[in-house]
Amino acid sequence: MKKIRIGLCGAGHIAEVAHIPYLTTYEKYDLVAVCDICEERAKDFAKRFNIPHWFTSVEDMLASVELDAVDVCTWNAAHAPCVIAAARAGKDILCEKPMAESLESAKKMMEEVNKAGVKFTLAVPNRWAPQNVSVKELIDNGALGEIYMAKGHNIRRRDTPEGWFTDKRYAGHGCIIDIGVHRIDSIWFLMGCPKPVSVSAKVFTAIGDFKTKGITRYPGRKLDGLVFDIDDAGAGCIKFENGAIMIFEVSDAINGPSTSKLQLYGTKAGVVIDGDVTLYGERDGYLTDEKIQTRRGTSYEFELKAFADYVCDGAENKYPMDLAIQMQAMLEAIYISSDTGNEVKIDDLI
Ligand SMILES: NC(=O)c1ccc[n+]([C@@H]2O[C@H](COP(=O)([O-])OP(=O)(O)OC[C@H]3O[C@@H](n4cnc5c(N)ncnc54)[C@H](O)[C@@H]3O)[C@@H](O)[C@H]2O)c1
Repeated sequence: MKKIRIGLCGAGHIAEVAHIPYLTTYEKYDLVAVCDICEERAKDFAKRFNIPHWFTSVEDMLASVELDAVDVCTWNAAHAPCVIAAARAGKDILCEKPMAESLESAKKMMEEVNKAGVKFTLAVPNRWAPQNVSVKELIDNGALGEIYMAKGHNIRRRDTPEGWFTDKRYAGHGCIIDIGVHRIDSIWFLMGCPKPVSVSAKVFTAIGDFKTKGITRYPGRKLDGLVFDIDDAGAGCIKFENGAIMIFEVSDAINGPSTSKLQLYGTKAGVVIDGDVTLYGERDGYLTDEKIQTRRGTSYEFELKAFADYVCDGAENKYPMDLAIQMQAMLEAIYISSDTGNEVKIDDLI
């Protein structure tokens, strides 16, 4: 069987907990190299996960070992340089979310990937969440009818990630680009990825650099001189070409309870995903609330396997460049709308 010789860029938390378990066990991967600008991290990954080669730059990795693909798991602002270097070297690419720290960088990535003709998949794991995949099957089989309105929130009370995540120079932005992307993407995926037309939104840095005790925060790499200048809450509305609308609400820190839910309203039925999956419909003139027992598994497993199947066997690309750039444009439009107070047209951005 053909294996993908893959090089990992970024020896951090998401690489370790989400990518390594499948890069080292799925039969279609041969994890041959890792690079991180931090030598200790690159060496440590190579030792702990038996990766034959380690490097301190993507350029050295690309020049020194034979690779078919590169898996980009660096902080957001390094996605573009790593993806561009990989594309220029003719490698296929899996890139962690968000696609980039800005739409400008994302557009450069698109140009280079298209010019090189390499394969590119954006990794946004909620699209692979077993509940979402099961609900998408129901939707594709017509269970909801036309979806005209959808709503999603992911409210975290005190959960702003630590380290580079709070600093725009590395992250680009805050909670919208970091966790909002998951929520917005899940709804967009379930709606069938209609073309986004306009965005109206507002983001806030309201709680800021909190010192709350007794909580655990997501561990981004800590660096000297980091500042806190990112958004920690936001809400807004996205309109689509098919007439449908999405409303979202996201926070990393807020004075309210932590909750998470997706709701999609269709002409035949609606669905709520909140840990359970419930279909709200009618049968013989009576209202029904029907619980669905969905698929099982982990999002990352499906995501990593799907990329290998796409690269090795020509299976469908589940998150191609044209969708990735539309997602990045929606994220950028949220921040522009917040800054200007105006509704932002997506066609003016891409
Ligand atoms: N899919 C998810 O659910 C999910 C969850 C968390 C993070 N992420 C994304 O994964 C990415 C990494 O996040 P993390 O939590 O692993 O951060 P992290 O701080 O744990 O690791 C990032 C690593 O990238 C390295 N790095 C930076 N620039 C580099 C470069 N040019 N070349 C090589 N290495 C470089 C850093 O030294 C660091 O070790 C981010 O884009 C983040 O948004 C995704």
